[in-house]
Amino acid sequence: IKLFADGAVLEEMISAYKEGVVKGFTTNPSLMKKAGITDYVSFAKEVITHIPDLPISFEVFTDNFDQMIREAEEIASWGDNVYVKIPITNSYGELSIPLIKDLSKKAVKLNVTAILTLEQVQQVVDAFAPGTHNIVSVFAGRIADTGIDPIPTMKKAAEICHQKPNTELLWASSRELLNIFQAEECNCDIITCTPDILRKLSNVGKDLTQLSLETVQMFSKDSKDLG
Ligand code: E4P
Repeated sequence: IKLFADGAVLEEMISAYKEGVVKGFTTNPSLMKKAGITDYVSFAKEVITHIPDLPISFEVFTDNFDQMIREAEEIASWGDNVYVKIPITNSYGELSIPLIKDLSKKAVKLNVTAILTLEQVQQVVDAFAPGTHNIVSVFAGRIADTGIDPIPTMKKAAEICHQKPNTELLWASSRELLNIFQAEECNCDIITCTPDILRKLSNVGKDLTQLSLETVQMFSKDSKDLG
């Protein structure tokens, strides 16, 4: 499985790139807002100057499909490593499938995002033009947030995606390190994780008795600080 970094903090993205742990990047408007970005285009172009050779997804901002086409073409022109993120619907709930077909025919590399159902996965995979490279982002964490185990959905989504060459399934909205192993078990091609989850990679293989001791030591230290 390929690890991607999910975020919009330039310094964190550059250090993840330099460390070589991740093989690509995802961003979204909410992550950019959280990072305090006010000029989307300048931010994106700066990111690409630092990260010119790994896949990176930038999302369209508009709600209107005619404008979205133009915005998507502009985003695609920023670099060969850029995937244009298209939400599965606009914010009025209108399906983006006609737009996806259009852009895919023009060979724009797409990352279709905010997918939560297998019906959406099938519609998106059917819409991709033959010979194009695309990512299907299924929000496993948001499925889990409703109390439903996302694993059966992700396994089936992988089967659907892999019917079409060069279509990669991405496990999105990761919530914990365990998700990396679950995504691998589901045959996902990619999982994107926030820096706080990526930092926990150093825990893999850790002795649990030692971890128990460290936990007690943390409680002990903090209780002293309570006075
Ligand atoms: C992926 O590309 C998305 O940006 C991200 O994983 C969404 O995460 P969230 O559901 O926690 O907002």
